[in-house]
Amino acid sequence: MSKVLLILCILSGLLLLAQAHDHHKKIKFYQLERENFKLNLTNYGATIISVITPDKHGKLADIVLGYDSIDSYKNDTCYFGAIIGRVANRIGGAKFTLDGKTYKLPVNDHGNTLHGGTRGFSDVVWSVESHKKHSHVTFSYDSFENEEGFPGKLKVSVTYKLVGKHNLFVKMIAKAVDKATPVNLAQHTYWNLRGHNSGDILSHIVQIFGSHITPVDEVLIPTGEIISVKGTPYDFLEPRKIGSKIHDLPGLYDMNYVLDRSFQKHLSKSVEVRDPVSGRKMELWSNQLGLQFYTSGQLNATKGKDGAIYHKYAGIALETQGFPDSVNYPYFPSQIVKPGEIYEHVMLYRLTAS
Ligand SMILES: *[C@@H]1O[C@H](CO)[C@@H](O)[C@H](O)[C@H]1NC(C)=O
Ligand SMILES: *[C@@H]1O[C@H](CO)[C@@H](O)[C@H](O)[C@H]1NC(C)=O
Ligand SMILES: *[C@@H]1O[C@H](CO)[C@@H](O)[C@H](O)[C@H]1NC(C)=O
Repeated sequence: MSKVLLILCILSGLLLLAQAHDHHKKIKFYQLERENFKLNLTNYGATIISVITPDKHGKLADIVLGYDSIDSYKNDTCYFGAIIGRVANRIGGAKFTLDGKTYKLPVNDHGNTLHGGTRGFSDVVWSVESHKKHSHVTFSYDSFENEEGFPGKLKVSVTYKLVGKHNLFVKMIAKAVDKATPVNLAQHTYWNLRGHNSGDILSHIVQIFGSHITPVDEVLIPTGEIISVKGTPYDFLEPRKIGSKIHDLPGLYDMNYVLDRSFQKHLSKSVEVRDPVSGRKMELWSNQLGLQFYTSGQLNATKGKDGAIYHKYAGIALETQGFPDSVNYPYFPSQIVKPGEIYEHVMLYRLTAS
């Protein structure tokens, strides 16, 4: 064999190895740490596994629900801690029409598409762009044409960054490569400020800075109305206990709030949660128009990390995002991202204890 041929063989072998590596990206864990504020994340679903913070006495606890193993994350039907996409929340009838073409999506929720389909961004392995333990981690994902039925390629990234003492900044970016596509990303962590293994969140005190909601039908698809929360159990304009009116509802809170805000690009306070027992408080600021408020009604003896068993109401998900099924409601704010445009979703979690 000539030397040239040998070198070519070696080169093509290396190329194959590189490709194989790309298709079997390793699932790993990534820590972020600043004094007694500690996070554990994984590139599987760009997921937050744990968030450890002090209570008012300085005692540490992990305040997010999660699992012990990646296998459990792969089996998960609650989307614990993950980034949801390409389109978080529901798309009615599992289809939509864009630029004259109708796109059919996987049906995974009562005839509808939930959280990006059967294998959304929460169930793929993301690449790791950069990681500095005392600063940030950035994950990226290249979504391919027709992935879960969606049009065109989409380049996505999410950065989790520590700022100040106990603040977590999250920045999600998406760029449509070649076709217009709906995009609605969401961070789906379940919080329990008393500790993930401490029972229910019904005595947490919540204030939601949204005076309207988008009511839904029996399969949780918006009816298209936008109504005031006044006089309904959805009114959290003044802080009050989550549990104080929950029994006036058919089951639980799982509702999109229209946030009261005037500038989309600006961060504004979306929701504030406080646990009177631990003294922990969390403010969530974002640049989004909607907030899905979900009190984890479907948890039913779900086996979590550290031997925890999560029952109904063990956590709350506070998902800033666009409105559900926007792609089928021309008068809801558009979620269409055209080639050359950039989708940017920022969130700031501010944790304190007193
Ligand atoms: C991060 O989470 C994984 C999965 O639960 C666990 O195996 C690992 O020990 C955790 N790492 C740290 C530093 O907590
Ligand atoms: C995942 O689900 C499969 C099938 O239901 C089950 O056999 C397996 O024990 C589950 N694994 C974990 C870690 O929950
Ligand atoms: C919880 O799961 C058990 C066992 O699968 C089932 O019998 C029960 O009806 C479920 N409870 C609720 C509230 O869904």
